[in-house]
Amino acid sequence: MSPKNFSLEALIRPNILKLKPYRCARDDYSEGILLDANENAFGPSVPAAAHHDLPDTLLARYPDPYQRELKAQLADWRGLTRAAWDHVFLGVGSDEVLDIVMRVACTPGTDKILVCPPTYGMYTVSADINDVEVVKVPLDVDRAFALDVDAVLKALEADAKIKVVFLCSPGNPTGSVLVESDVRRILDFDGWNGLVVMDEAYIDFADQRSAVALIKQYPNLLVSQTFSKSFGMAGVRLGVAYAQPPLIAVLSKTKAPYNISNPTAQLGIAAMSPQGLSTFKTNIAAAKEQRARLLRELPKLPRAGKILGTSDANFVLIQVLGKDGRPCNATALALYKALAEEHKVVVRFRGNDYGCNACVRVTVGTREEVDYLLAKWRTHFATAKV
Ligand SMILES: Cc1ncc(COP(=O)(O)O)c(C=O)c1O
Repeated sequence: MSPKNFSLEALIRPNILKLKPYRCARDDYSEGILLDANENAFGPSVPAAAHHDLPDTLLARYPDPYQRELKAQLADWRGLTRAAWDHVFLGVGSDEVLDIVMRVACTPGTDKILVCPPTYGMYTVSADINDVEVVKVPLDVDRAFALDVDAVLKALEADAKIKVVFLCSPGNPTGSVLVESDVRRILDFDGWNGLVVMDEAYIDFADQRSAVALIKQYPNLLVSQTFSKSFGMAGVRLGVAYAQPPLIAVLSKTKAPYNISNPTAQLGIAAMSPQGLSTFKTNIAAAKEQRARLLRELPKLPRAGKILGTSDANFVLIQVLGKDGRPCNATALALYKALAEEHKVVVRFRGNDYGCNACVRVTVGTREEVDYLLAKWRTHFATAKV
């Protein structure tokens, strides 16, 4: 097991280590007449037509706090075995996963996390909520937003208060996958005791393998994934984390007992069915096709600058040029506003993010949506003032 000096007991906050998880009668008995949990025996106040095939009991009764079946399917699907359900944690979206990792490892007002900008904004929002300081080690803009591993290791060695490193691969907003050997150097580093979170929200759009393949080797690794992107289920709020069982056990006892609702679990299981996975494959292929179109067509548009990053996710990050032909934040912002306000197509202005001057981030849409965006970009610059 590497790294040699990693100790989960030394890392996790003492109050969390000692925590006795919430227990309910159903941990021991879940069959028969259930008069233990103050549910409503008369059923849900939802018209049957509105909950389709879900039996009344799935709405009226509390969900299983453990969700072993869905976890077993997810473990199997990611190349572990069904028996490895204890390597899986489920959250209310991956946002809950990211927050809970921070909460178990970082003592408010004392500990820190490390992030590599430009990156997903929720790491800092969660840190602010939890009163956890954020140490920033920027990605290397000149190498398509690769990790600056030496700088990360230096920061970790210099500050024992850093407990969690958040890496995002493919990155948001960079779209770049991180090189596995770079990630391994951080995982192998013996000069600190902390966790490495690999946020793989967009991994299914990339050609690189998931870091779940490294879980067996690294007790200090947690891989976070989600049903929101590649499965097209953002409204369901289902996030997944993979790690070795001792860390998963810490997260599981800390979460709210019934964080995953019955409808959510049912929808997750349905997505794991052969039909669900076949739709998943078809939709990923369609998204990749439209991403390729964006990569071909966006650079031909008026005032289009460089595409930044390696575009391994379901979006493209592109610079917008001013009248003088140089990247211009004001032009990018004006384009963003005009697209949203006049043309009703919403992209994301990212020009204020580190290394993303003058950039907008365009999510891959359907063929028709891509057509529409390309047309409206042209329309805007036919008369644009900046
Ligand atoms: C990198 C990254 N991680 C996590 C999330 C959150 O996803 P979820 O919907 O699973 O909470 C997002 C959402 O945009 C994201 O971009």
